[in-house]
Amino acid sequence: MQHESVYLENNSLVILDQTKLPNEIEFLRLTQQSEIYRAIKNLQVRGAPAIGIAAAYGLYLAAMECECEDYAKFFEHVHAAKEYLNSSRPTAVNLSWALNRLEQVLIHNANLEISEIKNLLRLEAEQIKSEDANMCRKIGEFGLSLIKNGDGILTHCNAGELATAKYGTALAAIHLGRERGMNFRLYCDETRPLLQGARLTAFELMSDGIDTTLICDNMASQVMKNAWIDAVFVGADRIAANGDTCNKIGTSGLAILAKYYGIPFYVFAPKSTIDMNTKSGNEIIIEQRPASEITELWYEKRMAPNDVKVYNPAFDVTDHELISGIVTDLGILRAPYDVSLREIFA
Ligand code: MRU
Repeated sequence: MQHESVYLENNSLVILDQTKLPNEIEFLRLTQQSEIYRAIKNLQVRGAPAIGIAAAYGLYLAAMECECEDYAKFFEHVHAAKEYLNSSRPTAVNLSWALNRLEQVLIHNANLEISEIKNLLRLEAEQIKSEDANMCRKIGEFGLSLIKNGDGILTHCNAGELATAKYGTALAAIHLGRERGMNFRLYCDETRPLLQGARLTAFELMSDGIDTTLICDNMASQVMKNAWIDAVFVGADRIAANGDTCNKIGTSGLAILAKYYGIPFYVFAPKSTIDMNTKSGNEIIIEQRPASEITELWYEKRMAPNDVKVYNPAFDVTDHELISGIVTDLGILRAPYDVSLREIFA
């Protein structure tokens, strides 16, 4: 990929507007809290790690807005901005994780000049981004040990470079393998209703010269039956302490199909996506999105009766029993996940 999806430049948050892809490559320069909140909410920047990075830069920019020299007032201003940005989307834990990291910097440096604290906040946000790129690379290395040249991989939504600082999570092994001259056959679900698979993953993979086949979500069973799929690779928005994994709506159905066809189902995520404070998937808040995303967004005219009831959950939870392995930057975790997850936090 030639494009970084999120970075800081001249005290602006620059994001590649993912709602315009693949037809337009447009970068937005954001400085106001409300603009950054909207960019996250409207999925102009999306994917759990990228949301965390954008929010961290956003909080730094909010701190820069504050001209007061008094620590208590400064803290109050930054804390309010943190709560506001954190309310932009509820499901991906990377959002609150990144914001909390910046708030800790604020708390632990209360004795410093405000200008010095601001500088530390920027460094912490940069650090979150560079750590994410390193974690993704490690995830890719572990992921490569699970597949061989020529394998067919089914993926859902976009857990690639666009969703992270670099490489991606579920797609990291594919990009790394490509760098090393390997070839994989990628099947991407279009991912209704927001088409992250069709618009983003297909674009990202093809930009990297990877053999890409787009399918509708309801064709997954057919490609598995055809024996074209050697493994399913997906990302995660929040992994609970027992291994239950919340990811884009449609993921849990794929896991059930994969089990039926005897295909390994792997979840890829950095440590920042694991939420040990959430005991199981039942506790995860699933974002509900507007009905119009289903009834009219991609159509020239509305394609459902007026006033039809619509259910539009953005995510679902895959039961830990359906997961063959959770590939993290610290290694490939296997069941029982309550034990293996606890070990990486020990
Ligand atoms: O609603 P989105 O597009 O932000 O959902 C993204 C996903 O579900 C991804 O699979 C997940 O965030 C992992 S990104 C590395």
